Amino acid sequence: MRSIYLVPLFVLGCGSDPAPADDTFTPTGGTVDVPNCGYSFTTRMGAEPLRMSGTKVGTDPTPRLVHLGIVGDPKTSIVAQWRTTDDTTTGSVIRYGAGANLPEAQLTQTLDGLQFGYKSTGTQIFRMHQAHLCNLQPGTTYSYQVGTTGHFSPVYTFHTAPDIGAHPDAEVTLGYVGDSRGGQDVWAQVVSQLQQRTPDLMLFSGDATTVGIAQPEWEDFLGNAEKLFATIPVIMVNGNHENNAINFFSQFALPGDQENYGIDYGFAHVTVANDTPDDPATLTTTIRDSIAADFEASKAAQWKMLLHHRPMWSSGTLHGSDLTLQASWQPLVDQYHLDLVLNGHEHQFEITKPLLGQAIQPTNATGTVYVIAGGAGADLYPTGTVPWDAYAEMTHSAAVIHVRRNMLTLDSFRPDGTAIPTGFSKTKP
Ligand SMILES: [Fe+2]
Ligand SMILES: [Fe+2]
Repeated sequence: MRSIYLVPLFVLGCGSDPAPADDTFTPTGGTVDVPNCGYSFTTRMGAEPLRMSGTKVGTDPTPRLVHLGIVGDPKTSIVAQWRTTDDTTTGSVIRYGAGANLPEAQLTQTLDGLQFGYKSTGTQIFRMHQAHLCNLQPGTTYSYQVGTTGHFSPVYTFHTAPDIGAHPDAEVTLGYVGDSRGGQDVWAQVVSQLQQRTPDLMLFSGDATTVGIAQPEWEDFLGNAEKLFATIPVIMVNGNHENNAINFFSQFALPGDQENYGIDYGFAHVTVANDTPDDPATLTTTIRDSIAADFEASKAAQWKMLLHHRPMWSSGTLHGSDLTLQASWQPLVDQYHLDLVLNGHEHQFEITKPLLGQAIQPTNATGTVYVIAGGAGADLYPTGTVPWDAYAEMTHSAAVIHVRRNMLTLDSFRPDGTAIPTGFSKTKP
């Protein structure tokens, strides 16, 4: 049984303890050790380093846009993130307790959070609050609320990932979708459909916004997702429309360098890659090396998936297959026998037959299936007809992936809840 459940690909530089809150905006970024968690968190240029919770209470400290992330081991840790209406309040507190739907009076454990400001376009400083809960119990439900004295969010519930060593019968469900952009009505429908299917972890394959530095777009995206994202952690991928914006890196607590890393959740190992880096030359050098390193480190995992934005295989007539990634990354996918590659970028639903190199395989025992669920709301793109597709449909969509030790299934659906008439199911001893 594997003992390492999270494999960051990049070792961060030495951190420092979070500084006290003050009124000076110093957007230098920096790496700060998160108290009691054994890991650090890095903010980028344009954002402040993490600071301790302060005492400043602004004109409206109402918490909003509550959403969960993961930096450490999802069996024992989680990060609650939020903003306040005024963006100036520096008080950050989480109150929590083990148990589902607890009344506020039973949220008897309290932890001070961390906070930092960031700025993209214009002069406005947006202030993120983070509360890192570590040393939690695996497979356990907690209730929590965030805010500051006198101004707390509603009580939400989250749960930690199961310990598959202790519970080999554990099943987890991964929600998966991408490409919402301006289609917020559809995004709200997709969120409701995902919520009904009770995922444990959300995978978002990029292009949440049309312009990554446009903060109002993020407000819409997170606002429509709050009822889901406040209850399960979300792994966000940088798409070409996020374009490595400071808004993206500031609003989502993610493992490692927030771009290229691996995460274990139940019997699933998900390798995450940024296929839209600042320097495209790194796609075939350092990023490819990072993917290879994570595949090697996780080669004993029962189920293996690669999550990134631009598809290596797509019949889409707008973008189609990304041949650079196909030439550079697919040999690794083949070498390490990945089960699924999860993408977006093409605004459609598409699932290939099992592929090994350029060859269609008779069963998925010997090939990898490539999926595109880029249907979270952005305007749809037409699909083409290719021999290696199992199914393609020009529709908004999302999917859930059920993962047990000996079986993995993928079910996809449209925003009205109707099933897309194809699926993926695979068994292993
Ligand atoms: Fe897109
Ligand atoms: Fe895209």
